[in-house]
Amino acid sequence: MSKAVVVYRSHSGVTRRYGEEVGAFLTQRGIATSVASVGDCDPMTLADADYLLLGCWTSGLFLILQHPDEPWLAFVRDMPETKRPRVALFTTYMLATGSQLPSMRTALVGKTNVPELELKSRNGHLSTADERALERFLAQH
Ligand SMILES: Cc1cc2nc3c(=O)[nH]c(=O)nc-3n(C[C@H](O)[C@H](O)[C@H](O)COP(=O)(O)O)c2cc1C
Repeated sequence: MSKAVVVYRSHSGVTRRYGEEVGAFLTQRGIATSVASVGDCDPMTLADADYLLLGCWTSGLFLILQHPDEPWLAFVRDMPETKRPRVALFTTYMLATGSQLPSMRTALVGKTNVPELELKSRNGHLSTADERALERFLAQH
């Protein structure tokens, strides 16, 4: 059985909901999935993960300078280097994600594999398009 770890950082709950919906989708597809906030995630669980899905809410000046917040960056800084999992990113936002996903990608350089999928949502609910994108992500080799 494949294993997925979904780790999120949420300020007011929307990204937590998105992470939980991503996790529920993976579970439905037969993947042993754990979902945890950056504060609750044991980095050791990443060692044997086949999929790593990292999410963070978008903070910035609404139209410019979006970036993941410090607790998310600290989690990535402190996590052990792992080249095993296939990686996806997700974020929630209000107006524009701008530099959010590029900043998340940059933070991951040298820590894990280049993300193959990026999801974003305003309401934290998995859309049909998100589900299709996740299906393609899981189907790739
Ligand atoms: C201080 C602050 C800065 C924000 N900056 C942006 C931004 O630059 N762009 C944007 O689209 N949304 C921005 N937002 C909106 C949040 O990204 C959005 O509400 C998100 O879904 C919150 O996720 P959470 O409930 O998981 O914390 C900002 C919100 C706050 C509180």
